[in-house]
Amino acid sequence: MSETIRVLLSEEEVDQRIVEVAAKISEDYHGEQVHLICVLRGGVFFTCELAKRLTIPVSMDFMSVSSYGASTKSSGVVKIIKDLDEGLEGKNVLVVEDIVDSGRTLSYLLEYLRNQRPNSLKLCTLLNKPERRVVDVNVDYICFDIPDEFVVGYGLDYAQKYRNLPYIGVIELD
Ligand code: IMP
Ligand code: MG
Repeated sequence: MSETIRVLLSEEEVDQRIVEVAAKISEDYHGEQVHLICVLRGGVFFTCELAKRLTIPVSMDFMSVSSYGASTKSSGVVKIIKDLDEGLEGKNVLVVEDIVDSGRTLSYLLEYLRNQRPNSLKLCTLLNKPERRVVDVNVDYICFDIPDEFVVGYGLDYAQKYRNLPYIGVIELD
């Protein structure tokens, strides 16, 4: 079986949109510091590109989560593989994700973070698949709404491959 990648969002389109979203975030948090939480591993490329373009003071922390159960569908029960290094009390927390799909992982994660009493808690995602939503999650910043197709690149993988592609592509198996 061969895998081909069809470009959905080019490198230029993604970069341009990140510039716009970073400007909006910098405006919204004007005069404040934002604490970015990168959700590993998929969120790492987007977090770096976004962080470089923010004009407000930024601090960063990293979390790694995985959902228990079947590999293709998230169960909603999330296992924390790597926890935060610092507490969140009083911080303006912005969670940075690669994609919001069913919303199960995020809904669990946001509840977990909210319990640490941040001053504010928002969510920013590179990609959003609205058709796939099972759990309602409020996403504050969305770079792109995409159709229900399996995508790779810019941090997103298929069997751990393609994370390093500088664009977003749809994987086609034939
Ligand atoms: P959710 O709990 O269903 O929202 O799961 C979101 C997670 O599923 C993401 O953080 C990704 O790791 C993974 N995921 C969902 N859709 C895709 C996709 O199209 N390509 C690659 N990974 C995906
Ligand atoms: Mg993810």
